[in-house]
Amino acid sequence: SKADIGLIGLGVMGANLALNIAEKGHTIAVNNRSTPKIDAFVEAAQAEGFGERVVPEADLATFVQSVKKPRSIIIMVKAGKPVDDMIEQLLPLLDEGDAILECGNSLFSDTQRHFDYLKPKGIGYLGVGVSGGAEGARHGPSIMVGGSKAQWHDAEPVLTSIAARFKGEPCVAWLGEGGAGHFVKTIHNGIEYGDMQMIAEVYGVMRDGLGMDAAACAEVFKRWNEGPLNSYLIEITGHVLEAMDGESGRPLVEMILDRAGQKGTGVWSAIAAQQLGVPATAIEGAVAARSISSRKQERIAAEALYGKRRGKVDITIDDLEQALLAGKIVSYTQGFSVIASASEEQGWGLELATIAKIWRAGCIIRSRFLDQMASAFAGDAATNLLMVPDFATLMKEASPALRRVVSAGALGELPLICLSSSLAYFDSYRQARGTANLIQGQRDFFGSHGFEIEGRGTDLHGEWPSLIEQAAE
Ligand code: 6PG
Repeated sequence: SKADIGLIGLGVMGANLALNIAEKGHTIAVNNRSTPKIDAFVEAAQAEGFGERVVPEADLATFVQSVKKPRSIIIMVKAGKPVDDMIEQLLPLLDEGDAILECGNSLFSDTQRHFDYLKPKGIGYLGVGVSGGAEGARHGPSIMVGGSKAQWHDAEPVLTSIAARFKGEPCVAWLGEGGAGHFVKTIHNGIEYGDMQMIAEVYGVMRDGLGMDAAACAEVFKRWNEGPLNSYLIEITGHVLEAMDGESGRPLVEMILDRAGQKGTGVWSAIAAQQLGVPATAIEGAVAARSISSRKQERIAAEALYGKRRGKVDITIDDLEQALLAGKIVSYTQGFSVIASASEEQGWGLELATIAKIWRAGCIIRSRFLDQMASAFAGDAATNLLMVPDFATLMKEASPALRRVVSAGALGELPLICLSSSLAYFDSYRQARGTANLIQGQRDFFGSHGFEIEGRGTDLHGEWPSLIEQAAE
């Protein structure tokens, strides 16, 4: 008998997904470019007791033949060219109605391109965002599916069985056509960047502004994990802060170089936001902070030039907690606005409540907060979270603390890129009369771009030359 599903690419994520699938009772054919990885996988599957559900096939054509039709073939290779190449290799081996499920962190426009390319050939293409890291892949990730809806139904039983569960509800959904799944995964990562950066900024206030050691910071995060900030990222932050380095006998976090890596999804989120004309200052700030972090040598030179910051700041732990909550509300507001806007532009019909729901478990940003968001979006048509009544109440309570923390940070020379840009967004968003009237005046002055005066017209101009002449006289 043939396998229920196939998977190509037995790296850490691929192997863990395959083990998860086999564990849930499905037979899975596996393939990998290098055969030793296949052997190692078979051994691992046997050790876990479900070896008999694994069909190892080193030859790609035989591998495809070993999957039952209509075929669902997961590819878990590096995003970019390896995905393009794999599609070309598979194409002549597939039959009409079969589907490729690409489960890496691909750029959504690449996914859209593959979807459009395969559609007229009768081959389904699903761009699937999988979140939760290696552990998630093995024991229950959050799964954001986009692409061919008909073929989603073929793969649905398998994907549903392996997904994380929130109070029994599987964290998986088909979200929309084409690149929708990978787009949503990208914004998930953008939000992840914002969460991580704001946590790091608050840690900076504790470490540098309040003089707390790593163990004391760890205690705070552990306590916060019991409250409104309860989330996977707050939880692991506590663990990261309490870990000790065996060699130096010091907290491990103090030994780790302060230079953050990034693989692209944060930047893609920021670019998408800018292209859509949606402000996403928290995500942009988080990406910028990672870029600054990577310029270690420049920072060393700049500190020598401008001097090292010193001294304590006057801020309470409770204020830091509330500030983080307010910053998080803004960051999620922005992320969901980007999603809503992309959905409208692409005609994806994305449901914000569904997205919040499948992020409640399994993924990196899973949290209590997302459960509140899922309920809020379900009962409200607003796409800006700040306008949803429950969150407006939270924001009214928490924003004064954000303001105090950002002020203390600014005066205390503590960099709070993400928190301060969240506050600036909030203050701009809630200002009925802003200052773009001046921008319009300037644009008209130097480029005759025109401005609007209500009741008088939309393409008006100032008499700038005569005004200048008058001033000169
Ligand atoms: C997840 C993570 C995962 C991965 C990212 C992180 O949802 O499981 O987001 O996709 O950790 O690649 O990206 P950076 O390497 O850019 O931080």
